[in-house]
Amino acid sequence: MNAPLPTAYKSGYQDFYGRDYIVTPDVLIPRPETEQIIDAVLNLAGKPYLPGVKPSQNQLPKNPTILDVGTGSGCIAITIKKELPEASVYASDISEEALNIARKNAHNHGVFIHFIISHLLDNVKFTPNVIVANLPYVDKNWSWLDKDALSCEPDIALYAEDHGLELIKKLIDQSTTCQIPHLILEADPCQHQKIINYATKKGLQHLETRGFILTFYTPQV
Ligand SMILES: C[S@@+](CC[C@H](N)C(=O)[O-])C[C@H]1O[C@@H](n2cnc3c(N)ncnc32)[C@H](O)[C@@H]1O
Repeated sequence: MNAPLPTAYKSGYQDFYGRDYIVTPDVLIPRPETEQIIDAVLNLAGKPYLPGVKPSQNQLPKNPTILDVGTGSGCIAITIKKELPEASVYASDISEEALNIARKNAHNHGVFIHFIISHLLDNVKFTPNVIVANLPYVDKNWSWLDKDALSCEPDIALYAEDHGLELIKKLIDQSTTCQIPHLILEADPCQHQKIINYATKKGLQHLETRGFILTFYTPQV
């Protein structure tokens, strides 16, 4: 059975953090749960998104360098640049088609983002202060998975091996090797404990969980 084309692909746009993004079947349709990555970054930057929320202990430098790995439509990277204009924002993806959509979105929102084609951090030649990543984490074997509902979105944006954790674990490995100070990851809450255990073994400190989002800190030696 062919699933109907999602509304966002029909209209060509999806809202994310109050702004519209071009979406085509080359990119994942941005999800509301991903917006909390932005809140986590703002919190680290000492600009909590809600009045009364205490900024985290591990503050960023004044002009932080932030890399969004697996940028897709560019919604995370572009929102960070809009909300935190003092940051230098980089965005990478393994898909050239996705990067072309992200470039159009950056142009439409009037922001400059450095785009990089890369498998995870392979082509990244600098050390950002923060890496944010909503990588593919869906496990094809989840019994509750509605594959039909996801069939219009690119497989490369959704699915990962090793119970959905393959790319997240590889990114943790690369980030710890490069001593990236902060790592903010999206994953399904059912995967969180495994990710926290894995990251802790690699020397990362789990700072907080909000919704689907995990924030880690690398104690600097
Ligand atoms: C879940 S989508 C997230 C898209 C966007 N960041 C968002 O939150 O809506 C995952 C993205 O990661 C990219 N991707 C998949 N494998 C990758 C890899 N090995 N290295 C870098 N990016 C990858 C996909 O092309 C896709 O754009």
